[in-house]
Formats: sequence, structure tokens, C-alpha cells
Amino acid sequence: MKDFSGKTAVITGGASGIGLAMAELFAAQGMKLVLGDIESDALTTAIEKLSAGGAECVGAVTDVSDPDQVQALADLAVERFGGIHIACNNAGVFTGGLLWEESLADYRWLMDVNVMGVVHGIRSFVPIMQAQGDECHIVNTASMAAVTAMPYSGIYHMSKHAVLALSESLYHELSFHSPQVKISVLCPEAINTGIATSERNRHTQYSDVVESDERNMVMDALNASVAGGIGPEVMAQRVLDAVINERFYIFSDELWRRSAETRLEDIRLGRNPTFAPPIPE
Ligand SMILES: NC(=O)c1ccc[n+]([C@@H]2O[C@H](COP(=O)([O-])OP(=O)(O)OC[C@H]3O[C@@H](n4cnc5c(N)ncnc54)[C@H](O)[C@@H]3O)[C@@H](O)[C@H]2O)c1
Repeated sequence: MKDFSGKTAVITGGASGIGLAMAELFAAQGMKLVLGDIESDALTTAIEKLSAGGAECVGAVTDVSDPDQVQALADLAVERFGGIHIACNNAGVFTGGLLWEESLADYRWLMDVNVMGVVHGIRSFVPIMQAQGDECHIVNTASMAAVTAMPYSGIYHMSKHAVLALSESLYHELSFHSPQVKISVLCPEAINTGIATSERNRHTQYSDVVESDERNMVMDALNASVAGGIGPEVMAQRVLDAVINERFYIFSDELWRRSAETRLEDIRLGRNPTFAPPIPE
């Protein structure tokens, strides 16, 4: 897609971080915006800011773990703006710890939001795009965690590997059945957003948290790395470039790529997993 003006983008997790940065950049291209987010106040603030900048923007409080709420977001886009041209399945959360200690609530929370949230987006947005028949683009947010597997954040890695595999399969299915619907998968590195405070959006059905030294260590490390991370507007620009150039993989910096390549080499050689964190040598 090269022409964005007057078209509509739907973004889940659009009230902050990478989602909001994509909304701002799409608005600058003349797109109309439909934002879904679980955080009502942040969503209101985001819509006010975008509207004040001249964008046509609506939003709905949306928990992506609920298929009906994601469908309602899609319906809102069709009702208000007549369709969907870009859909960003972006909402995501993080938690960490030791895999045998973490609660089932930890597992369910990350699978419900990070994986099923994307599944719900695919099931609601793709049929609308197919029926439109014009050029459209799906952007699923995975992570460099989708191509690596580090200790103490295994559930997050598992969820993002699932998003990558789902997106790769969807790429093939769309190219066979609906070639006008393109797809990219965004794999950010450390980005300066609210991801380290994901627990702010952890609802009561997931309240079982097991404290541990490993959990505290990985949360501290995430806090430090996102605080020193690049701005979310850099990700938004990479997404826009990928949509324009119909590029599927939106990968990250050299350090994370090196970790990913070491993992691929382990797999290629049948070698045991190398611990290769994304830190300078
Ligand atoms: N920041 C990073 O370093 C980084 C790195 C790799 C991948 N990512 C991914 O980027 C995506 C965006 O995260 P971010 O870094 O901008 O963090 P963020 O916390 O700033 O933004 C995430 C947004 O998702 C919303 N959200 C959380 N749970 C939700 C739910 N159940 N339903 C709907 N909305 C929900 C939050 O309210 C928030 O607005 C996530 O998928 C995350 O896993 C982030």
C-alpha cells in the first residue's frame, strides 16, 4: 500500500507505546483511526491528542482477550469509516519468572492477550478486508522474543513465537486466497514504552502472582532496558516502510539479530541451546 490518505487503520493497544506511535504516524499520512485499548483514561487522552492534531479518530475500550470486544471494534470501524485498510494487532503484556514456579494465571494472561488477542484480530479484521477487495495490510506485533528464547521470560517468548508462526502461516494463506491483503510481523527490540508496567492491566481473573528473585530480576532488567530503549516512533516508521514495501519481517537491531542467528545455528547444527543474550561483547 502506498496511498494512505482517507483510509482507515485499526490499532489494538493503541492508547500508548508502539500502538500510539503507529496511530500518530498513520494520522500524519491522512488516515482515519480506530483505537482499541483496555485502559480507558489513556485511550481518551490518545483520542483527544490525535483529534486535536486534526485526525479523524474514534476508540472503544477493548480487551483483546475477548473476541466479542474485538469484533465490536471492527464493527465500529466499518460503521464510522466504512472499512478497515490497516489492522495492527499490537496489544501485548509481559511477565517473567521461573517456568515451574509461575502461576497458571501468568500463562493464561500472556496467552489470552498476546496470542488470542492476535487470533481475535485475525478472525474479525481479515474477513472485512477480504470483502472490501481493495489493498489492505495486517500488522501483528511479535517481538525479537519470537526468534530467541531466554531464561526467566519463557512465557513471553512462547507467546511471541506463537504470534510469529501464526503470522507466517497467515502470510501463505493470504497470498493463496486474498493476495490483496498483505501482512507484516513486527519484531521490536527494547523500546521505551510502558511494557515493563504491564501489570497495570492485569485483571482479577489473572491475580495469582508468584514472587521470586528471578521474577524481580527480569522485571528490573526489562525496566532498565526499555528505559534505555529507542523511541516507539522508530518502530512506527519501520512499520510504515514495511507496509509501503510489502515487507513481511520487521526485524530489530544487530544485538538481537545476533542472538537470533545463534539460535538458528543451534537448530541447524542440532547443537544444544547456546545462552546468547543480546548484550555487547
Ligand atoms: N517495548 C518493548 O520493548 C517491546 C519489545 C518487543 C515487543 N513489544 C510488543 O509491542 C506491543 C506494544 O507494547 P508496548 O511496548 O507499546 O507497551 P505499552 O504497555 O506501552 O502498550 C501496550 C498497550 O496495550 C494495552 N493492553 C494491554 N493489555 C490489553 C488488553 N488485554 N486488551 C487491549 N489492550 C491491552 C495497554 O493498555 C497499552 O496501551 C506488545 O505486543 C509488546 O509485547 C514491545
